[in-house]
Amino acid sequence: MKNIYNKKYAESWIKNYESKKDVNRVKNLEPFIKKKINDLKPASKILDVGCGWGMVAKFLKQSHHYYGLDIPKTFLDYIKKIYPHPNLHLKFGKLPDKVDVENSYFDLVIASMVLHVLPSFKKSINLLLKKTKPGGRVIIVDFRDSLDLSYVFTNVIQNDKKAIKGNFLSYSGEKMKAEVYYHREKEIEKFLKQKQLKFKKKYLGIAFVSYEITKD
Ligand SMILES: C[S@@+](CC[C@H](N)C(=O)[O-])C[C@H]1O[C@@H](n2cnc3c(N)ncnc32)[C@H](O)[C@@H]1O
Repeated sequence: MKNIYNKKYAESWIKNYESKKDVNRVKNLEPFIKKKINDLKPASKILDVGCGWGMVAKFLKQSHHYYGLDIPKTFLDYIKKIYPHPNLHLKFGKLPDKVDVENSYFDLVIASMVLHVLPSFKKSINLLLKKTKPGGRVIIVDFRDSLDLSYVFTNVIQNDKKAIKGNFLSYSGEKMKAEVYYHREKEIEKFLKQKQLKFKKKYLGIAFVSYEITKD
């Protein structure tokens, strides 16, 4: 599917977010992210790749420095309007190549529900680590292997080992296009172990899994 990350995509996800009906996100993902942001030291620098509609920006403290990257401008404008903040840096960014922020700079790098939009993940994780300070952390959240996504798709155009693509209905009733590339938990863990990274894996309810990686 060609460029699905457009204005319509952004507007549909914003409606879904504002409806607060996305129960797995509201009950499990948002509280997890909120705690991670609350636990940061004052003046911490945060990079949020694929920042979407501002789930991370919502929890910022005044002293934090936030860098949010995404493709549709609609998302960046929305965050600016809804979560005004003195140290907000929002700009176009796209994994795995277009992440134009300083290297070894961030205390916390977040890629929440972004890995599955990428056909492959290794180059992107390497890049996220490059942007992180020594002693800083990268948090990756994505779908659990056990979640059967075919149930939420109303029209499937591809469903194989690699990916599921088609239309799905959001919790708020928006008909949206989606491409979900399967990056299995074992594959991700294997990659992190091969790189001898220290990481903690945690399930966030029935839908999500997080990997919190500490950079030496
Ligand atoms: C499911 S949303 C997750 C949004 C947000 N991180 C959250 O968890 O609330 C996926 C996001 O990834 C963005 N995206 C799509 N392709 C991307 C890419 N190649 N690099 C970075 N972000 C991308 C989309 O525009 C969208 O904002």
